[in-house]
Formats: sequence, structure tokens, C-alpha cells
Amino acid sequence: MRIFVLTGAGLSAESGLGTFRDPRGSGLWARFDPMKLATPEAFARTPDDVHAFYNMRRRNLLDAHPNPAHAALARLQTGLVARDGHLALVTQNVDDLLERAGCRNVLHMHGELLKIRCTACGAVHHWHPDLGRGTPCPDCARTGVLRPHVVWFGEMPQHMDEIYGELAGADLFVAIGTSGSVYPAAGFVAEARAMGIATCEINLEPSDNAHQFDEALYGPASSVVPDWVATILAALPGQTGALP
Ligand code: OAD
Repeated sequence: MRIFVLTGAGLSAESGLGTFRDPRGSGLWARFDPMKLATPEAFARTPDDVHAFYNMRRRNLLDAHPNPAHAALARLQTGLVARDGHLALVTQNVDDLLERAGCRNVLHMHGELLKIRCTACGAVHHWHPDLGRGTPCPDCARTGVLRPHVVWFGEMPQHMDEIYGELAGADLFVAIGTSGSVYPAAGFVAEARAMGIATCEINLEPSDNAHQFDEALYGPASSVVPDWVATILAALPGQTGALP
């Protein structure tokens, strides 16, 4: 069995990282204006504000830990591989909590918060400290040229060829903790359906495109995802009861 999982901020909400949009008004974009902090134009106009926003988010991420939903997806990946299957993990999240839970080959379509990129020489580096205009590029030593290795509004998401290849080969498409409001990720469910792939949504509550899914499981990811993973693994051919 080949499963394609798309994850969003809801997967990491219970790790304390919050979400972007929340009907109760506590989402990140209710407190911070994305047009002033998450666009190339904003970075050109007010780089110190943009650096401060991503420095704050990087510090929060370094204090956070994977939750049981991240760990369950790592078990699913190992369990599928052990039975000649495959789990494609595509995330809109810029955190590294899937990797810290043991997941491999995670495709970060919106980039990675713990990486920086040099706009002068193109070098990409893992990065934990705060970043600022005075930080020199580790490769070319220029200052004022480093930015977070994340995708901003108006920029192309990363790994799209690989992601569409994974989607085309999937037997099941599952969206976890995403509001379905940001494209191209929000369009994956329609593309999966058009290819005859079964679809399932796991979310706290129905997402914007909930009506497009064949099946839905509602509740906190930290309990719904482990239960769903246990069901999938138990149903795989060759399952003996001892999970890897
Ligand atoms: P959103 O904040 O738009 O949506 C989060 C989703 O997670 C909502 O549908 C919630 O119902 C759900 N949710 C919240 N808590 C949950 C929990 N404990 N368990 C399960 N689900 C839960 O986040 P995304 O859909 O990831 O892009 O947002 C997509 C993109 O918009 C982000 O990658 C970011 C943002 O602007 C960029 O910054 C480019």
C-alpha cells in the first residue's frame, strides 16, 4: 500500500506551535500580518521586522517537542516499508518535528525554519541562532544577504515535481491538520480524486474543503492519528500482530 500524507499546522498544534487560522481568533495570522512579515516585498522593505518574526518562531520551535501524532506517522512509515509499502510525507509545516519523531524523506513544500539561505551565493545551511542583517553568510561571508529558508507568499513552493510524482502513485491520500485554504496544497485532494485515489481528512473540525473527502476523522491529531495508524497497520497483508 502506498499512502500520501499531507500535513499542516494542526499536526504540530499540540506541540505548542499554534496554527495560522483559528475560528476562535488565536491563529498566528490574527496576531501578525502575513503581508508585512511573510512576503519577499516585506523582507525588502522591513528586514529587521521579518527577521524578528522568524527568530521568535525559530526559538519556539527549538523549545517544542514532537507529539504522539508525529510519532505515529513515523511508525506508519516504518510499518509500510516493512510490508513493501510506502509513505510519502509532504508537509506545509516549516518545523522539524516529523524528523525528530523518526520520519524520513519529509518533503517540506513551504521550506524549513531551521535552515537559512544566502540570497547572494545560494548556500543553504542548518541554523539555530537568531538571524539578522549583520549575520555573515557562512559560505561567501557577505552580510545582509541571509534569509530564512522558508517559502513566502508569492514564492514557488519547493519539491513540487517530486510531490506530484508521489501523489500520482498513491493508493490513499490523507490530509492531517490543514485548513485547505492555501494552494497548491489545498488542491491536492481534488487532484487525488480525479486520479481515483481514496481520500481521508483528519482534523479537529471540518476544513474548508471537507466536502471533497471520501472519509473524515475529527478530533485532536494526538489521539486520532495514532488510532488511524494502528487501524491501517493492523489491516495490512502479512500483519502478525507484532508491529515494528
Ligand atoms: P491553518 O492554520 O490554516 O489550519 C490549521 C488546521 O489545523 C485547521 O483546519 C484546524 O482545524 C486544524 N487543527 C488545529 N488544531 C488541531 C489539532 N490539535 N489536531 C488536528 N487538527 C487541528 O494551517 P495550514 O493549513 O497548515 O504558509 O496553513 C497552510 C499555510 O498557510 C501554512 O503553511 C502557512 C500559512 O500561511 C506560509 O507561511 C507560506
